[in-house]
Amino acid sequence: MLKMEEIFPPFGLRIASGAVEMRVLGDEDIPELVELVQGGVQAAGLPMPFLNDWHAQPFAPGSPDGFPTASLAWWWTQRATFAPEDWHMALTVRREGVLVGMQDVHATNFPQTRHIETGSWLGLGHQGQGTGTLMRKLVVGFAFDELGAHSCGSGYIVGNQASAAVSRKTGYVENGRNRIVQRTAQGTCGVDEQRLLVTPQTYLRPDGPVTIQGAGALRRFLAIEGL
Ligand SMILES: CC(C)(COP(=O)(O)OP(=O)(O)OC[C@H]1O[C@@H](n2cnc3c(N)ncnc32)[C@H](O)[C@@H]1OP(=O)(O)O)[C@@H](O)C(=O)NCCC(=O)NCCS
Repeated sequence: MLKMEEIFPPFGLRIASGAVEMRVLGDEDIPELVELVQGGVQAAGLPMPFLNDWHAQPFAPGSPDGFPTASLAWWWTQRATFAPEDWHMALTVRREGVLVGMQDVHATNFPQTRHIETGSWLGLGHQGQGTGTLMRKLVVGFAFDELGAHSCGSGYIVGNQASAAVSRKTGYVENGRNRIVQRTAQGTCGVDEQRLLVTPQTYLRPDGPVTIQGAGALRRFLAIEGL
């Protein structure tokens, strides 16, 4: 019988270095992921890092509202709408086999733009141990080396020192500021986002060796083979 990764190649992608392994989210990861979010994501003293506070919604599995129902819809939508001109991959991040966070990567019109955007988070108990830096370095290296990206963009809410440090250590340079809108249970508010860009010329690679599997099949699925 065919394997799922032969039908949907994002499932065959594996990016690993040292104790860290990243793979596209599968249904079997969801219970561990939901419990990870229940343990908290946002560090005290740092700004709310996301466009909406999905991680802070009432924990209510099996309910029509609260977490994780809306997040589940978002993760499944990424699979349902995956297409060469607009794709998202939610990569689970495991450290020594334990699910510790997610590294998102997406692109619009990649064959023309050669640009990807990323976003990431770790469960509170897994922050401050270098994993955030390593996972970002790994996804950026994957984009440059395996997809032929020319640039990777990211952004953080001004004041998010942890995210700023990860970007600096990965070789991003500042790329202007945007005024963006955050939605929380308290309402909507405008905040400043620092934009960042990394190119192969400024990228700082991880220290250890990196293994990437499944990139060839993914390139075919993204219609970028031979570009
Ligand atoms: C941002 C995040 C992914 C960084 O991952 P991490 O594993 O905690 O970061 P690292 O351990 O690789 O550390 C990176 C740097 O951040 C600094 N840092 C970590 N937590 C910090 C904090 N709470 N305040 C200030 N700096 C912090 C570290 O000191 C380190 O810098 P240094 O090496 O120069 O000392 C993680 O903290 C997180 O998930 N935060 C909540 C969600 C979030 O902010 N996502 C980013 C959205 S743009």
